[in-house]
This record gives sequence, C-alpha cells and structure tokens, in this order.
Amino acid sequence: MSKTISIIQQKGGVGKTTLAVNLAYYFAKQQNLRVAMADADPQGSLTVMKDFLTGIDLISVEAATAERDPDRYDLTFIDTSPRNDVRLAQIIRFSDFILLPVRPGYLDMMSMRDSETIIANNQKMPYRAAIVFTQVQHRNRVGEEAKELIKERFSIPAMEPSLGMRVAYQRSFYSEGVYNSDDLKAREEIESVAVELFRMMQ
Ligand SMILES: Nc1ncnc2c1ncn2[C@@H]1O[C@H](COP(=O)(O)OP(=O)(O)OP(=O)(O)O)[C@@H](O)[C@H]1O
Ligand SMILES: [Mg+2]
Repeated sequence: MSKTISIIQQKGGVGKTTLAVNLAYYFAKQQNLRVAMADADPQGSLTVMKDFLTGIDLISVEAATAERDPDRYDLTFIDTSPRNDVRLAQIIRFSDFILLPVRPGYLDMMSMRDSETIIANNQKMPYRAAIVFTQVQHRNRVGEEAKELIKERFSIPAMEPSLGMRVAYQRSFYSEGVYNSDDLKAREEIESVAVELFRMMQ
C-alpha cells in the first residue's frame, strides 16, 4: 500500500494543518505505518515545525507528487494553503483521497464552493474526497444548521466523525498530535476520522 492523501480548503485557519499532523501521527505512532508529510503551503507551518516532527518524514511536494514509493512510505499527507496556486490541480489529480476540513459556519460554507469547483475540475465523480467538520462546538444550533446545509449543497460526502473545538488540538503540533494528550475525546475523534478515511478510500 502507498496512498497519498491531501488536505485542501480554500479558507485559512480552518484546521488543515492540524488535521494533517494529527492523522499523520495517528498512522505513524498508533498503526506503525511509514508516514511522510509534504508542505504545499508557501507560509510553511509544517516546514517551520520540521524539528518537532518525530517519526514522520517531511518531503518536498515535488517528491510527494512525482510517484508513489511503496518501498518507503505507506501514507503521504500533503498539507496545502488556502490559495489556489499552480500546484493545487496537480496535487488533486495525484492524490488517492482529499480531505476538506470545514468549520460549520456560513462563511466557511462559501469557501467550500471554491474548493468543490477545483475538485470538480480535476477529478471525475464520484469524487475521492470527503468533508470533515472541524472546530465543532457542541450545543450550537447555527453550527448544526450549517452542517445540514453543507451536506445538502455539495456533491462531496461529509464524514460522520468530526473534530470538536478542543485545546488538545491547539497543543498537538508540539506533542506528536493528540496521541500523547490526555484528552480522550480528541484521541477518539482522530481515530474515528482515520478509520472512516480508510473505509472511504477502499
Ligand atoms: N479542532 C480544533 N480545536 C481547537 N483549535 C483548533 C482546531 N483545529 C485547529 N485549531 C486551531 O486553529 C488555528 C488554525 O489551525 P490550522 O493552522 O490547522 O489551520 P489551517 O487551515 O492549516 O490554516 P492555514 O490556512 O493558515 O494554513 C490554530 O491555532 C489551531 O491550533
Ligand atoms: Mg495550514
């Protein structure tokens, strides 16, 4: 197995890097898979944290999208920027699966439109992609309404598991993901998203 998964959303701060890093750590540390990450964000949050990444190789986007290397990596995660730069189309075409983190809110829904168009231009239906709701605040009616609208309006399926708004995710960059945190809910969320990702990738 050698799969490439890209995290894409045309909006800043929704949690792309957080989702990418936590899934990468989950598969590397919990599942003992060989995991690489590539940073397609010119601002380079991942590149900045290169020294913190343990047990995960940081490779170039060029290497990540040149060919799959089953001898080296089981999984490669490509983190992208909220801008539609030249590499995004190539990344989408190369990837086995795309995750689209979205906060359940109206403004974030607008960015989904742009992301869906870019995916539609570079993949055939049914899309190898899924929406992941992030920074979900419980007992928030606006959030629940936005979730329903997003599910209705877009042709990309939304995953059932989601990530809540949790301090553990804010800390996770420096602590091998929520894997090492004592926030059990955050660990369960990442595991559920990971399991669902594998199910959908089949
Ligand atoms: N589920 C969450 N709960 C709480 N805080 C979160 C969560 N996800 C992300 N954050 C916080 O939100 C901020 C933005 O997250 P992140 O950098 O992952 O977003 P991004 O989509 O990669 O942003 P950019 O588009 O700028 O690359 C960070 O401070 C991060 O710690
Ligand atoms: Mg980022």
